[in-house]
Amino acid sequence: MIVALASLELAALLPRFKHAAASAGFILALAAPLAVVTAGCGWLLSLGGGYDAQLLEWHKWLGTATAAGSVLTAILFWRGKFSAYRISLFATAGVLMAAGHLGGSLTHGSDYLTQYAPAPLKKLLGIQTAKQNLTSRSLAELQQQPVFAGVIEPLFENKCVHCHGAEKSKAGLRLDSFAALQDGSDDGPVLKAGDAAQSPLIQRLLMPTDSDDHMPPAGKPQLSTGEITLLKWWVNAGAPATNALGQLAAPPEVLAALPVR
Ligand code: HEC
Repeated sequence: MIVALASLELAALLPRFKHAAASAGFILALAAPLAVVTAGCGWLLSLGGGYDAQLLEWHKWLGTATAAGSVLTAILFWRGKFSAYRISLFATAGVLMAAGHLGGSLTHGSDYLTQYAPAPLKKLLGIQTAKQNLTSRSLAELQQQPVFAGVIEPLFENKCVHCHGAEKSKAGLRLDSFAALQDGSDDGPVLKAGDAAQSPLIQRLLMPTDSDDHMPPAGKPQLSTGEITLLKWWVNAGAPATNALGQLAAPPEVLAALPVR
């Protein structure tokens, strides 16, 4: 509603559409209270945890600013301060878009906007196919480390251990160490070494996002396509505990998905 109203106000600058924003009062009467309710719901949701802390911090404050801006915009309008109202409206619309983008990054992963973009466009935007926030290691450094400790464990740590760790272990499954992973869940093993397709852990990742069984659950930070490629490859390679990357012949798509500089 805020973006629509900003568009209407822009259109109203043209003589042909000068009445475009005639319903501004009505739109604001809906938008301002709803913005406050929305920010409140977001705040409550954030208490559930499991989100990237830095993204969440920004999203929280920009979301709060959006709500405050919407209320201010409405007040200025009702007070008849029309130029201040327009400035406030456009500023709020801008903050709203930034907050919305961060909200998308929180729930769908930070590469959600460009994940399925055509390769040439990605190249143009300077996006690597496997963008990860883990590290600034070089490939040579990573080759020396055990794949589990260097790649797989940090990935679980980032996206799974929040629910499958020492504090919470949903379904009796812990993913915070190699031994815990081998112990599986209340229902038994989650890994079949050498066979990703038959491993519940991998199957869960590949289920449609709207399925109740999909992992991580809907609304939580998701794995990138590169991260799924890595996990699948590691399981198919026998899910080894200590083998270094250099000892396992990793195909090019796996090397491309590694979290390296
Ligand atoms: C927000 C909390 C949450 C996060 C994050 C999460 N899970 Fe889960 N996971 C659950 C819950 C709850 C269940 C049990 C319900 C179910 O079976 O769907 C579960 C069940 C599972 C199971 C099935 C265990 C069994 O045998 O029944 C696997 C495998 C699994 N998760 C893997 C993962 C992986 C891998 C990740 C990270 C990529 C992950 N989960 C992230 C909450 C979470």
